[in-house]
Amino acid sequence: MTIIKALILGTIALTTVMSPCGGEDIVADHVGTYGTNVYQTYGALGQFTYEFDGDELFYVDLEKMETVWRLPEFSNFTTFEARSALRNIVMAKRNLDILIKNSNFTPATNEIPEVAVFPKSSVMPGIPNTLICLVDNIFPPVINITWLYNGRSVAEGVAETTFYPKSDHSFLKLSYLTFLPSSEDFYDCRVEHWGLEEPLLKHWEPEIPTPMSELTETVVCVLGLAVGLVGIVVGTILIIRVLRSGGASRH
Ligand SMILES: *[C@@H]1O[C@H](CO)[C@@H](O)[C@H](O)[C@H]1NC(C)=O
Ligand SMILES: *[C@@H]1O[C@H](CO)[C@@H](O)[C@H](O)[C@H]1NC(C)=O
Repeated sequence: MTIIKALILGTIALTTVMSPCGGEDIVADHVGTYGTNVYQTYGALGQFTYEFDGDELFYVDLEKMETVWRLPEFSNFTTFEARSALRNIVMAKRNLDILIKNSNFTPATNEIPEVAVFPKSSVMPGIPNTLICLVDNIFPPVINITWLYNGRSVAEGVAETTFYPKSDHSFLKLSYLTFLPSSEDFYDCRVEHWGLEEPLLKHWEPEIPTPMSELTETVVCVLGLAVGLVGIVVGTILIIRVLRSGGASRH
């Protein structure tokens, strides 16, 4: 059975440019993207998001039919009727059906995702931190991002974002894992995507400075200081000699 991995970006993205608030000389335009509507045949799924100045405000959980704010505080200032997102998704589905037929059922091209793993803050042993797995160049937006802790699958302390639309029509997604840094532990972000022949594992382990390297640092510092002092002494002696010989030749 052929799965059509075709996808449409419903570009009912209205962009408003509001005038800067009270600023005369400062150029400060704002951009609100009202609805990035995505519908794809795989899983008959879609995504509906709202952005402001490049940041996600919310997405609509189309299965639960509820608005999920990127930060819970946002819901204190405004509301969004989740059902109205469905209209756009239905329209995107209808358009996609037409496009699939018009393109003679040509499947979409799978891109190769790019993966990077890095900690949220600088790593200190015993201080809770968050590992971020950034997956870029995702197309189509169908992916599994999971975490391995010391080689074993871990589900606790994991969270992920929606698919963030990019200007080249690929997507970016972030997965988070809370962790307690320890020099013995290692982590992998595991990515499954149709653009990859096999699951991609991006390895990460904390670089916690060992007492040995601190000792090395001290030794290097002391040696450097000694060399510097010797330099000053030798330099002074040489200057004195030059001055003396200069003075002697004048007589
Ligand atoms: C938002 O509302 C909730 C519940 O009413 C409240 O607990 C929270 O402090 C509010 N947050 C802000 C930033 O106003
Ligand atoms: C994601 O995982 C599910 C469940 O294991 C699997 O059926 C699906 O094929 C995976 N998706 C990708 C893109 O590999």
